[in-house]
Amino acid sequence: MTIELAVPETRPVPWTRRHLLGLEDLSRPELETILDTAEDFAEVSQRRRKKRAGLKGKVVVNLFFEPSTRTRTSFGLAAKRLSADTIDFTTSSSSLMKGESFIDTAKNIEAMGIDVMVVRHSSPGAPHLLAQHVGCSVVNAGDGAHEHPTQGLLDMFTIRRCKGRLENLTVGLVGDISHSRVARSNIHGLLKLGARVIVCGPPTLVPPSIAQLGVEISHRLEDILARCDVINLLRIQFERQRHGLFPSINEYARLFGMDSQRLRRAKENVLLLAPGPINRGVEITPEVADGPHSAILQQVTNGLAVRMAVLYLLCGQPPAEG
Ligand code: NCD
Repeated sequence: MTIELAVPETRPVPWTRRHLLGLEDLSRPELETILDTAEDFAEVSQRRRKKRAGLKGKVVVNLFFEPSTRTRTSFGLAAKRLSADTIDFTTSSSSLMKGESFIDTAKNIEAMGIDVMVVRHSSPGAPHLLAQHVGCSVVNAGDGAHEHPTQGLLDMFTIRRCKGRLENLTVGLVGDISHSRVARSNIHGLLKLGARVIVCGPPTLVPPSIAQLGVEISHRLEDILARCDVINLLRIQFERQRHGLFPSINEYARLFGMDSQRLRRAKENVLLLAPGPINRGVEITPEVADGPHSAILQQVTNGLAVRMAVLYLLCGQPPAEG
């Protein structure tokens, strides 16, 4: 007779994955393992001596084929805090300009002895393709409109820190749901950790099929304000839109921008997030972005701890005490 032992869903699991390609692939215990590990690293960042030896002797390369401020800097600093050697690859000055393919470029860089490639690319699935061709770890730092797993993780980490939990919270994702990789990673992660998700935006920016993931759809911010514990304000991804999907930026700001008036109609302790870059006066007004409900800069701080956790879990050694 076999006895099946019930394993609590939230028990930390030994990490076995080589890549982090998306939150859709991860189980609840895996997500919680990353968030709990990030909690330890957030504590390290508070100390006077912030450096740890977890990635000593390892090499982390940033391979960014799209612009980035926060994600690129954050991965670079996370790797340095863990004592890795780091390389920043810039596409505009590379042999890609001479016609070398994406995979050939990556394989040549890997031949120098790379342990982790952090990849951002405008094509959905580019990091997944790379993972099939290289022997090192691959981290998806944003692939087209598909996923941005570390942004999803740092959003969840920030919510968990500010609200004490994720279970049973209602999170509104407002804006360009169709073209946002942040929306997709948030949806996969938040639903697995027990939150409810409402996506809200103009009908042209919210694909009806997104409901199949288990989210509620709304086209009126007013209708969801009083229900949300957290509102994540997403940028309109003009670079991914083929043609105008709403009349004007002013119109969008009037209907979906978070301003003081709308904030008064939201829950008293609503938490406001935005992945950045923010467009002040479009998805959020300056006074709200800089106000007490906003955790925008905390997200950036937390991103560092989350990326240290991810790099460490993928290829780190236990850090020395001290
Ligand atoms: C996001 C991205 O690149 O997808 N930014 C980020 O990584 N902080 C969101 C965006 O660009 O709107």
